[in-house]
Amino acid sequence: MTPRNILVVLSLALSLAIGFALSRKPGGRGAEGRGPGMARPRLGLSLDTLKEERWQRDRDRFVQRATELGADVLVQSANSDDTRQVQDIEALISRGVDALVIVPHNGEAMAKAVAAARQAGIPVISYDRLITGADVDVYLSFDNVRVGELQAEYLVGKLGGRGRIIRIYGSPTDNNARLFKKGQDKVLAPLIQSGAIRVVHEDWAQDWKPENAKKIVNAALTAQGPDVQGILASNDGTAGGAIQAITEEGLAGKVLVTGQDAELAACQRIMRGVQTMTIYKPLHQLADRAAEVAVALARRQVVVARDTVNNGFKEVPSVLENVIAVDKDNMMETVVKDGFHPAAQLK
Ligand code: BGC
Repeated sequence: MTPRNILVVLSLALSLAIGFALSRKPGGRGAEGRGPGMARPRLGLSLDTLKEERWQRDRDRFVQRATELGADVLVQSANSDDTRQVQDIEALISRGVDALVIVPHNGEAMAKAVAAARQAGIPVISYDRLITGADVDVYLSFDNVRVGELQAEYLVGKLGGRGRIIRIYGSPTDNNARLFKKGQDKVLAPLIQSGAIRVVHEDWAQDWKPENAKKIVNAALTAQGPDVQGILASNDGTAGGAIQAITEEGLAGKVLVTGQDAELAACQRIMRGVQTMTIYKPLHQLADRAAEVAVALARRQVVVARDTVNNGFKEVPSVLENVIAVDKDNMMETVVKDGFHPAAQLK
């Protein structure tokens, strides 16, 4: 057992369990005599951005669940700025949070903030995106490689195994963007090799911005012309930018476009036939779990995770939730059935 109260049991049937409180170096307000059994733990949530719809949902659900569990939450959003996010986290540390939940803008740059939290004895959860090269306590996310596989499998399936495509990767600072690409590569590599799929243009969309995705597609169409059958966009934001670009060329609805997040605007585009698919990630499961783990860690309880992910520093105890590919055909039985969007808004 490490002093950080994390026990990794690979054979455990449960993906995550919370156990008895153990003695632990006091941190956060524990240093002031609080700690195990504290009445109201104080949690810090540091987000990269709140610009995309999903992160607003993550925040709302996290705060709701944490509040139900008797905790208070301080929320900061860094507007895609690493310096600001480090400052946000330092401010949360000095405000005496008992546990930190971080969605890093840049997984590598945030190692510095994790070191500061560790120094103060505050447990850290890496939320959705992995913080690399740092001593994080838990990583909670989705199966991000699977996201990429599903996007590529769907596209290739609809294309009948051949065609000319544009690839839009996510932000190069986001570890997830690399995982999505890895999953896509697994599916595409043999088809690219055989010449059945031709990637006419590919690029990374800095900070996941739709306007950067639009520029990538504009550049592709200018250089290659309109003979493109698919755009493998890594999320709904970039899909939106891509769709603006093809709309200007009169190609909307004629080129297949993938996405991710099941954002309302993307689901509406799918129902209208201008976006082809998205990946539904049940955010409530992730946010609830994060709140539960954060409260447990704040109360100095043991968290047991079945899986681990190597972040370059250690094997981080991890839970990766499942994801679902969604198109027009299964929209009702997935996104709508789950209450993610009301059917009325998708008409
Ligand atoms: C998340 C995606 C999101 C993207 C842009 C990724 O790390 O996993 O859900 O679309 O960041 O915010």
